[in-house]
Amino acid sequence: MNKQAFQQKILSWYEKNKRDLPWRKTTDPYAIMVSEIMLQQTQVDRVIPKYQAFLKAFPTIKDLAEAPTSQVLELWSGLGYNSRAIRLQEAAKIICKQYRGQVPKSRDALMDLPGIGPYTSNAILSFAHNLPFPCMDTNIRRIILHELQLPEKTAPEKLYVLAESLIPEGRSRDWHNALMDYGSTILTARKTGIKSLTTQSKFLHSKRWYRGQILKILVKEKETTLKKLAKLFEKSPADIEEIVQELLKARLIAVEP
Ligand code: ADE
Repeated sequence: MNKQAFQQKILSWYEKNKRDLPWRKTTDPYAIMVSEIMLQQTQVDRVIPKYQAFLKAFPTIKDLAEAPTSQVLELWSGLGYNSRAIRLQEAAKIICKQYRGQVPKSRDALMDLPGIGPYTSNAILSFAHNLPFPCMDTNIRRIILHELQLPEKTAPEKLYVLAESLIPEGRSRDWHNALMDYGSTILTARKTGIKSLTTQSKFLHSKRWYRGQILKILVKEKETTLKKLAKLFEKSPADIEEIVQELLKARLIAVEP
């Protein structure tokens, strides 16, 4: 299918079938950032009430930056991966201090923030500012592979460039919302048989991979600190404490206060 026909198909489907999601009613980059971080590892239905309560408690980034971390964690409970909440608050503090409370509009500046990787940076730029940065999540990857009949092993860099070229001019926000809806309702993983990610890249983000990384460090250096491990986990949605707990439970490591 050519590019224009593909864009037309997705956008006209979206016009009739779009989901009404709370983070689609705003273009506030702070609210978008909160939603995307919540959506990283948690399903839409579970995120909706948490997102609403979170923004009610912290309507502005300054409210979040100044809140006690215990309150942030309390509002996060049920979403899992608490380290995401801690990094989100750290990012809010940095934005208040270094950017006068304005979420940066540059990809590099966003990527420098704790907990914000390439996907989240692009999602903020696309959903808040309608800028043409491709949001390459598993759904969108699957749609592009399927519709353009590309092999699953297509290099991520190639896919990224392709995804960028497919964004209809001036419609990045609608386009990405449309792809997310299309991928979660029509072109599901089951229907295409395309695996969510290659085993390798899935493994790279898995808890098992992080357990392995921690053990590797310990074998080499005999001991480490939580601070050093936190650096390793900086861009990951995985929860460092949970992984350390698993290693402790398996008696693979010991901790000293
Ligand atoms: N998953 C990640 N981001 C999303 C969004 N903005 N809408 C729906 N699902 C998502």
